Parts: sequence; structure tokens; C-alpha cells
Amino acid sequence: VGEPDLTGRHVVVSAGGTREPLDPVRFLGNRSSGKQGYALARTAAARGARVTLIAANSTLPDPAGVDVVPVGTAAHLREEVLRAAADADAVVMAAAVADFRPVTYAAGKIKKKDDQEPEPIALARNPDILAEISTGRIRPGQVIVGFAAETDDVLANGRAKLKRKGCDLLVVNEVGERKTFGSEENEAVVLGADGSETPVPHGPKEALAETVWDLVAGRLG
Ligand code: PMT
Repeated sequence: VGEPDLTGRHVVVSAGGTREPLDPVRFLGNRSSGKQGYALARTAAARGARVTLIAANSTLPDPAGVDVVPVGTAAHLREEVLRAAADADAVVMAAAVADFRPVTYAAGKIKKKDDQEPEPIALARNPDILAEISTGRIRPGQVIVGFAAETDDVLANGRAKLKRKGCDLLVVNEVGERKTFGSEENEAVVLGADGSETPVPHGPKEALAETVWDLVAGRLG
């Protein structure tokens, strides 16, 4: 257990993957388990913070001493993040949020018709929560951290994403075996808006979480 350097701080963490419903039984989703976000919540609580964990569709047990807010869709996640961020010292967006949602929701189960080609699914863009809280800055001095799971040109894409989103730190993790989605472990480079680069070697998701809080605590002063 490290220093209780987040005592008196309120931090908000988003975790898991949003689900965008098509009909009562189907959704568009992703492979996030919530493990990285839950590790962030647990480690922040151990460092003394009051933690609000906005958890999208994770089946993990609630971490002790953490205020867990379950959500389903990106719209629901946005609502709860904005609410909790209003009095937060730091916000860490580890959730995998759907960029698009189906335009229509079918109240009854969509049926397949044997004599017809499948209907294309029309999509609408979801609001970018990280960009919204970063450019809006509801609270002066608030530290905002994003995550990016990339498959190609990892660092170049990460740098571009950091700029585009306007957050203070961006944790860039490469999608692969034994890291990112679903794994117990991760490996990342934390990019700072100040040009800093902090590599975190392959290891438990808690280790990456501790490095994130070290960098956040340093910026909170
Ligand atoms: O849950 P695990 O199984 O442990 O896996 C962890 C993880 C791989 C999900 C996590 O480490 C991670 O990388 N999360 C971000 C996934 C991602 O690809 O994000 P993105 O590149 O789509 O989005 C970048 C950032 O913007 C993220 O902080 C995301 O929360 C945020 N975002 C994205 C879209 C959107 N509409 N609103 C957002 O706020």
C-alpha cells in the first residue's frame, strides 16, 4: 500500500463497455471487462480518495469503500459522469464508450425473414464525453485522464487523440494478447499534454493504475 496521497480528493472513474440496444435482446457492444477501471477505483480508494465508479455492464464485484453507479448506454454513462464530475478533483475515463448507436430501437425482437436480405443498421454518433469534460472544464484545476486502445501506429494515434480530446493525460494501451480487453494485465505509455511520456511495462492492471494516480497526484499538487 502506497501513500494516502489522495486523501480529501474526490475522483471519478469510468469502467467497462457501453451497450447500445438494437432490440430487447441485442446490442452493439465491445470486449471491455471493467478490470482496468476497477483496478483504478480500488487503488484510488487505497490511497485515501473518495471514489465514484461509473460502471458500464461489468460483472465484477463492487470494490470495498467505492461508490458504484451502474450504467448501460453511452448516453447513460455521459449523464452519470457529468453529474459526478461536477465536484471531482480528477476524472479517469477507462471505459470503452460506443462511438455510435443504432438510430432506431425496435420495441419487439427483430425477426429474420427467410426470403429477404438483412436490413442495414443505421447508426448515429454518440457525444464524446471525454472531449466534452476536457474542453468544457467544469472545475478549475481538475485533472482529466483518457484511455486509448489502439491496434496500429499506437503512439502517433495516441498523441493525435490526446490533442483532439484536450485531456491532461492519455493512457495508450495496445490491443493484444495478455493486455487491454479482458486480461488481468496491461502495458501502456501515459502521454501528457505537457509532452511527457511515461512507459508502464507489462504487469498487473493495478500497477498501471498506481502510475496513473502518481501522475494525477503530481498534477493536483
Ligand atoms: O475493461 P478491461 O477489460 O480491463 O479493458 C480495459 C480497456 C482496454 C477498455 C481500457 O484500458 C481502455 O483502453 N479504455 C479505452 C478504450 C478505447 O478504445 O477508447 P477510445 O479510443 O474509443 O476512446 C478514447 C477515450 O475517449 C476513452 O477514455 C473513452 O472513455 C473516451 N470516450 C470515447 C468515446 C466517447 N463517445 N466518449 C468518450 O468519452
